[in-house]
Amino acid sequence: MIDRNRKVKWGILGCGKIAHKFANDLLLNDNSELVACVSRDVEKSTAFAEKYNIRFSFDSYEDFARCDEIDVVYIATPNSYHKEHSLLCLRNKKAVLCEKPLATNKADVEEMIKVAQENKVFFMEAMWTSCLPNIISINNTIQKGIIGELIHITADFGFKTGYDPKSRLFDPNLGGGSLLDIGIYPLYISLLLLGKPKSIRVSMRYCETGVDTSCSALLSYENGATAALFSSFETVTDIKCEIYGTEGKIVIPGRFHEQNEYLLSKQGFSEQLIKSEKVGLGYYHEIEHINECLYRGEVESFIMPFRMSLDLIEIMDEMRFKSEKFS
Ligand SMILES: NC(=O)c1ccc[n+]([C@@H]2O[C@H](COP(=O)([O-])OP(=O)(O)OC[C@H]3O[C@@H](n4cnc5c(N)ncnc54)[C@H](OP(=O)(O)O)[C@@H]3O)[C@@H](O)[C@H]2O)c1
Repeated sequence: MIDRNRKVKWGILGCGKIAHKFANDLLLNDNSELVACVSRDVEKSTAFAEKYNIRFSFDSYEDFARCDEIDVVYIATPNSYHKEHSLLCLRNKKAVLCEKPLATNKADVEEMIKVAQENKVFFMEAMWTSCLPNIISINNTIQKGIIGELIHITADFGFKTGYDPKSRLFDPNLGGGSLLDIGIYPLYISLLLLGKPKSIRVSMRYCETGVDTSCSALLSYENGATAALFSSFETVTDIKCEIYGTEGKIVIPGRFHEQNEYLLSKQGFSEQLIKSEKVGLGYYHEIEHINECLYRGEVESFIMPFRMSLDLIEIMDEMRFKSEKFS
């Protein structure tokens, strides 16, 4: 448990693209202090430290993980390294916020959770969407039954990018593929609102490296509800989410996973625009949540619990295993 009278001391492991965005939001949070960063490249870690006024910079992940000044580490490395880097920090008794997806298969996620539990340290998947006030408000509206029983969800996340077999998006050794990279957001919304599906039908398109470049799935639930999910590196989509209930609907406009507003319409009535708070790029809210968990002495998030991460990876494993192949 961290004393509420002091700031939570954060470290960032891996100084890539998302690390910069996260650092900017950390600096907006009054209860956080960014005390350390690490890159395998000393020039990169020094430049990162200078840019964000960070006291300790390292060029060895191992030395960083041993640093006593750090309470919690944000892991911002490619998907296939999340397990190795999380275990390194957890075994050094650091709380960990690890980028999504937690790992590239369920067995690895189970092992990561086990190590966190054995070491009695906080561990959470950085599904930042889960902490956004907009998503929390939508979930509350649905739980109250305002749009009735849910019967269908559509959610998509697509952008067009050139094929580069060496990039983390396309390299299987870095955990590439549209499903793991962005398809996880549509899947998260369906899991949050409808739970685990009873059955899954899925089609994927693949590139030469063997990872999926597009993924289309239809999830079916016990009550007959369905979710149509799509992710792609091959086409630009609206990145929108539509949630249909027996009494109304909710539309989260594009980019749904980071939105601060949604449209609510009850059948027969006009649309109502509901706005929520969003600070910085939105990572602020997961940072605030983790600080609160650490102040309370929690080892598991009450917003993004282990069960959610296990369900996400289990479904993504099944989707990749079951997919019909088109390339
Ligand atoms: N939450 C979000 O909105 C969001 C958005 C984008 C990405 N992500 C997630 O964040 C993670 C990183 O994505 P990114 O776009 O920031 O990637 P990136 O720019 O490629 O940065 C990844 C960093 O990982 C480190 N790394 C360690 N071992 C590596 C290896 N063998 N090959 C390449 N890099 C290695 C590198 O840091 P050093 O060289 O400094 O050691 C590199 O800068 C991914 O898991 C991704 O899914 C999340």
